[in-house]
Amino acid sequence: MPDFPAGFRWGVSTSAYQIEGATTVDGRGPSIWDTFAHEAGRIVDGSTGDQACDHYHRHAEDTALLAGLGVSAYRFSIAWPRVQPTGTGPANAAGLDFYDRLVDGLLAAGIDPVATLFHWDLPQPLEDAGGWLQRDTAARFAEYADLTATRLGDRVKLWITLNEPFIHMTLGYGIGTHAPGRMLLFDAFPAAHHQLLGHGLAVAALRARTASPVAIANNYSPVRQVGDTDADRAAAQAYDALHNRLFTDPLLGRGYPDAPGLDPAVIRDGDLDVLAAPIDVLGVNYYNPTGVRAPEEGSPLPFEMVPLDGYPRTAFDWPVAPDGLRELLRQLHHRYGDALPPVQVTESGCAYDDAPDAQGRVDDPERIAYLDGHVRAMREAMAEGVPVTGYFVWSLLDNWEWAEGFTKRFGLVHVDYPTQRRTPKSSYAWFRDLVRR
Ligand code: FCB
Repeated sequence: MPDFPAGFRWGVSTSAYQIEGATTVDGRGPSIWDTFAHEAGRIVDGSTGDQACDHYHRHAEDTALLAGLGVSAYRFSIAWPRVQPTGTGPANAAGLDFYDRLVDGLLAAGIDPVATLFHWDLPQPLEDAGGWLQRDTAARFAEYADLTATRLGDRVKLWITLNEPFIHMTLGYGIGTHAPGRMLLFDAFPAAHHQLLGHGLAVAALRARTASPVAIANNYSPVRQVGDTDADRAAAQAYDALHNRLFTDPLLGRGYPDAPGLDPAVIRDGDLDVLAAPIDVLGVNYYNPTGVRAPEEGSPLPFEMVPLDGYPRTAFDWPVAPDGLRELLRQLHHRYGDALPPVQVTESGCAYDDAPDAQGRVDDPERIAYLDGHVRAMREAMAEGVPVTGYFVWSLLDNWEWAEGFTKRFGLVHVDYPTQRRTPKSSYAWFRDLVRR
């Protein structure tokens, strides 16, 4: 493995609903994911995040695992419905107390707390009022950011406003496989604009509390055009605009790209200035490239997504393509030039069907190969001049993977859900040695 610059940030990521459990404890209100997971047929194994990894009660044990890993940072998310149980009104002190304990434990272990404010768990009452389709939700988000920064702003080392607004818009509001389960296809655009507006307003709220540096974590997927007709090219461009540019161009001062579904009527005067508030770091979540070709006649979509041949695949059936990470980092650099802030890879990882052997060990050579390939690809992009300053593995623990329930294991640490027993996998030792070196 090549050397990395001193001060490079190595970390792991998680999110609140996927690990915390304790969904009715200390005044937490319901989120859209509580509602969605409890509806029949939504989650493949019929599970919910009610218990998840019980991290709410086991955070000290999990912080010890982080310390053992030797990471310099831990990215977690704050559950909005713990801080504001109904999405509005004063802070619920007991909810913030939990993050206070977590943050202090991390700092005592020499680990930088990196907090995401929104990893998809919108308070249910806000969804009842229209969720991110409503402009008002953006203002509510800024209020929540202010309350959280007031309590934790002195100790969090990097604030991430939103996690993957593209995925939340498309799966949550476009096709309904994630909470809140709306199926609006391209009418979901207000959920894009209002999330981005919420981001911009939250950046201002955080800075007003001197809570910084500030980032957003976007999902990116380099597009592999399948086929070579003009229609295939147009389809690839449309998909690229939607996935890779819609949530980045306006943040970096370029305004919205020409993307399918974009509805200018939703955008008010001055919004683009709010969105383009300078950020200190761009978070990049990368899992795989996307194959795209021209749609069949009569398709409601301007592109068709096609499986990519010739790659090994994870248990999620996602292609393993480390070169995609290098490509997308290069592309960001090329596209935005000096307007690109330092990048941190805020999620990178893979699911495999890991299970303990007869001795209780969990050996996951595929994950080691996956991470090794991606870290090298990132390092190559850095050598070419892309300003990358950190890398976070998704995830510390096996956890509750949204619509896939407990069926997809992404952790460096295996979790036996019935007993909540944590067993570091061989990838945990591999990553620890990498970080140490
Ligand atoms: C990302 C999400 C994260 C996790 C990984 C596998 O899209 O941000 O919560 O589900 O995928």
